[in-house]
Amino acid sequence: MINAKQKARTLLCALIFMGGLSLASSLSSQGMRGTIKKESFGKTTGGEQIELYSLSNKKGMEVSITNFGATVVTLKVPDRGGKAADIVLGYDTLDGYEKGTSYFGATVGRYGNRIAGGKFSLDGRTYTLPKNNGENTLHGGIVGFNKKVWKAREIASKAGESLEMTYLSADGEEGFPGNLSAKVVFTLPAERNELKIDYTATTDKDTVLNLTNHSYFNLAGEGNGDILDHVMTLHAKQFTPVDKGLIPTGELKNVGGTPMDFNSATAIGKRINESDEQLVFGKGYDHNWVLTRAGGGSGLLVAAEAYDPKSGRKLEVLTTEPGVQFYSGNFLDGAKGKGNKPYPQRAAFCLETQHFPDSPNHPNFPGTLLKPNVVFHSQTVFRFSAK
Ligand code: GLA
Repeated sequence: MINAKQKARTLLCALIFMGGLSLASSLSSQGMRGTIKKESFGKTTGGEQIELYSLSNKKGMEVSITNFGATVVTLKVPDRGGKAADIVLGYDTLDGYEKGTSYFGATVGRYGNRIAGGKFSLDGRTYTLPKNNGENTLHGGIVGFNKKVWKAREIASKAGESLEMTYLSADGEEGFPGNLSAKVVFTLPAERNELKIDYTATTDKDTVLNLTNHSYFNLAGEGNGDILDHVMTLHAKQFTPVDKGLIPTGELKNVGGTPMDFNSATAIGKRINESDEQLVFGKGYDHNWVLTRAGGGSGLLVAAEAYDPKSGRKLEVLTTEPGVQFYSGNFLDGAKGKGNKPYPQRAAFCLETQHFPDSPNHPNFPGTLLKPNVVFHSQTVFRFSAK
């Protein structure tokens, strides 16, 4: 039985708690502290507690990220009328991400994209990797970074909110040499609608590295038709042609006069079904474009722009990386995602900023070797606007 005194005490505690909450929210609305919200995203089948962090800014953008796979789960941005929609494919629950094979929103590593025959040589030794894509290794192997539990730390300031994710990949994991310490920092600036992703990594042995984010965008809103009317621009004069297994032949080919030329804005669907051999091999676009870096170097540049005429939403992708994989969602097969909505073929596109596929086996490609005592850093920005 609760007596009157206990009741009064409970009421007092509740009032103090609510007072604390309203003080916290007024502090955050004044910009005194960030508004990163942390909630449980459930437990993995192995029993590990997973969190979901939600970042928001004053311009109507909201991003939620889980430490399972350092994965972007939702990304809400306003359309031309100011109405926000979630524009990335994904699942409602952790279970979807544990079972999923599409890499929705995930951080991909240790080596994003393909390594031919699951083999590469380094310092005179041949490393053998598990093959998880026909004869090749895709996106870091069977249990890539997208399936790992990352450690998260919230960093909020007046300038914006950041979420730091770290993961230590042990020497030999999925066949790769060296203990690799990887860090991904997601930042949502307070005053700009963009998601900035900073990748850093160090190793204690020579290794190869290619980190990217695998968000699937549909600027009309996830689960809202296909992306064939989206208009794409890729700032690239060349691409890396592939064989049937989507392994680069090694050639850097000019896009001029081919359906791979997106130097001027073109609807994704305009040429996607042409009988061009590259489109046949990819079942659509699934290729690496060689970003045009006028003065060389590795500064941040606009790699790609995508625009949805219906909603007016525009995405610009900026990166320090030398390449971008434009993937038009060709392998999506109608499996259900958020809200039980089916995601059919070409329901979304990816712009995976990266080093070129299979670089460890192509000495003419920009190098992906990481040595001890060197800090790898790259940056990619997904910038949004509407008109
Ligand atoms: C990358 C690959 C595609 C496909 C997707 C994941 O974009 O290039 O071929 O494997 O990942 O489904």
